[in-house]
Amino acid sequence: MSRSALDNKIATMIVDQSDLSLELGSGDEGTVYNYRNQYAFKRFKLFRDMEYYYRARLELKFKKIEELSKLTDEQMVFPLGIFGYSESDMEGYYMRIVASNDDFFSLYNMPLDKQIEMLIKGDEVIHRAHDMGLVIGDIKENNIMIEDGKPILIDLDNAAYGDYQYDLLPERSFCYYYVHGKEGPIRDNDIMLYTLMCLKMIFKDREFDYRQCREILWDLVDHLPVSNEIKDDIWVLLSDSLNKPYVSPVLAKIRKYIL
Ligand SMILES: Nc1ncnc2c1ncn2[C@@H]1O[C@H](COP(=O)(O)OP(=O)(O)O)[C@@H](O)[C@H]1O
Ligand SMILES: [Mg+2]
Repeated sequence: MSRSALDNKIATMIVDQSDLSLELGSGDEGTVYNYRNQYAFKRFKLFRDMEYYYRARLELKFKKIEELSKLTDEQMVFPLGIFGYSESDMEGYYMRIVASNDDFFSLYNMPLDKQIEMLIKGDEVIHRAHDMGLVIGDIKENNIMIEDGKPILIDLDNAAYGDYQYDLLPERSFCYYYVHGKEGPIRDNDIMLYTLMCLKMIFKDREFDYRQCREILWDLVDHLPVSNEIKDDIWVLLSDSLNKPYVSPVLAKIRKYIL
């Protein structure tokens, strides 16, 4: 393992590469493995493949992981420790395994009341994450799993936390910029992202995209089958206003209006 990984004060496991063969999933950045049904191991494949380019980032990432490992919340998966292979450089971190195959994509097949109930719960967890100082950035269906009927935030090593910035600048962290053509607070960006994800799901309209421009979004909102009051509320969430409220109250109003 490299010096910076060894400088970390959190628990470290050294494993054989052969222990990591059962995949739980993978994304842009890495692959997550089931380690002996005990832990989920996330291996930073991208960093490893482009080591020369990402070396400095990788060191910062491990410092962030150490900070994140101090946090706990039953609906957020934080690192428990780091792991490396005996024969090579640092590789990744481990966390608890989420016992589920479902994520927010499975909500697309649910009845509206169940869908909105879960979206409200998701909003509450995002609110709590913000209160803990995390800004998620990459809010999307497969970064929110569902376990025992509860939303669980995963992929938090990519979130911005304290002085630590996002990793690999998730494209979604530019949502505010795409919509309004100017920089906005990253917390408000999260709220816009979640609002758009909810609208896309509830109204089955893929045009509610995080790269959409303001004019088209306004037109889309204007044509939604909801009251003017709800449209105004949605627009506040998507507008360039700062310190936006959270999404739950609008979700509750939509449910009441439609059902
Ligand atoms: N703790 C976990 N328990 C079970 N499955 C997980 C866990 N963490 C991640 N996964 C699965 O692995 C996939 C990729 O993990 P993620 O952390 O989102 O990586 P990336 O940064 O590459 O998107 C997830 O979409 C999910 O299916
Ligand atoms: Mg992910």
